[in-house]
Amino acid sequence: MATVKIGLLGFGTVGRGVYKVLQTHREKIYNTLGVEVEIGRVLVRNLEKYQKTYPELIDLFTENPEEIIDNPEIKIIVEVMGGINPALDYVLQAMKNGKSVITANKDMVAERGRELFATHEEQGVDFLFEASVAGGIPIIRTLKESLAGNSFKEVIGIINGTTNYMLTKMSLFGTPYEEVLKEAQEKGYAEADPTSDVEGLDAARKLAILASIAFNSRVTFGDVYAEGITRITPIDIQYARELGGVIKLLGIAKEDEEGIEVRVHPTIIPESHPLAAVNDVFNAIFVEGDAVGPLMFYGRGAGELPTASAVVGDIIEAVKNISHHDTGRIGCTCYLEKPVKPIGE
Ligand code: NDP
Ligand code: HSE
Repeated sequence: MATVKIGLLGFGTVGRGVYKVLQTHREKIYNTLGVEVEIGRVLVRNLEKYQKTYPELIDLFTENPEEIIDNPEIKIIVEVMGGINPALDYVLQAMKNGKSVITANKDMVAERGRELFATHEEQGVDFLFEASVAGGIPIIRTLKESLAGNSFKEVIGIINGTTNYMLTKMSLFGTPYEEVLKEAQEKGYAEADPTSDVEGLDAARKLAILASIAFNSRVTFGDVYAEGITRITPIDIQYARELGGVIKLLGIAKEDEEGIEVRVHPTIIPESHPLAAVNDVFNAIFVEGDAVGPLMFYGRGAGELPTASAVVGDIIEAVKNISHHDTGRIGCTCYLEKPVKPIGE
């Protein structure tokens, strides 16, 4: 029986979720692909800590990235460690070694996308990043492939689960900011440094990725105006309610003849607006295609299993492409340099 071995970089919230989903759906995945998909090695920072916590997986863990990245038996690298360095070095080297790369790391994709896509094209290996935007919602491949017959002028969404969870609890139950942030961290929704969530930076990174795909350009994190929820008080929430609205942290990307506009900020939206009903850790993304018309995608935007669902979807795609000797070049060969309009100057 043929087996495709995966090298997992990181075994935190998402890494553990990927392991669980692959185990739970082992047979179904085999029936879909005709090959076994198996975790071959797992990179961790502190070997002892993981060997103690997961003694049944003791042989999988390593602290040495070369044992994964330079391992000819491993065909697919799943990077779920986060941060830009050393994750970037590892995935670039992995692609140069002919391995497909899957990542959930929006920081890396939004800030170093050019290098990553250039290497992906040069090497003719898959570079897939569905989980980097909106957790379990399948938006990246949908925009790139299923909706390829459309042009888009606008993408609007709630694209950070932590802050939506916080705003929901603050609005509906009056839970204090610090308490609800702690809850989001305990549930595995927040980034390692939750400043990224509450300052709007995580949403800005996701918006850069979405805008790049929707508008067939390269928008980077630095292009996005970002304002988070740190200054939202119970009084703001009360005023919004008196006006018949709710406060949501929105990511808004628009394109017109002058260029692209990309911004993340708290916004009062009417209670009747579809995005007003998106609560808890849920995310929603609204797009309007010239052929398909308006579409809205809704689902869990963070957390162990929803995010793992997106990663495993990418693993299936990569395994199929390996089996078919597909070069995986889709969607990256031709993009346009477009001006991004400054905001707030
Ligand atoms: P965690 O902090 O829970 O896990 C990170 C894992 O990577 C830990 O096992 C950590 O080890 C390991 N790690 C970090 N740095 C290194 C290093 N230099 N060398 C070896 N191992 C390392 O993060 P998450 O699982 O929450 O997130 C992972 C990625 O997925 C991030 O890019 C995040 O933005 C993204 N993401 C997360 C979502 C979520 O809901 N949590 C949703 C969508 C995307 P140690 O424990 O020793 O630090
Ligand atoms: N911290 C992120 C969020 C994880 O809360 O949306 C999912 O990308």
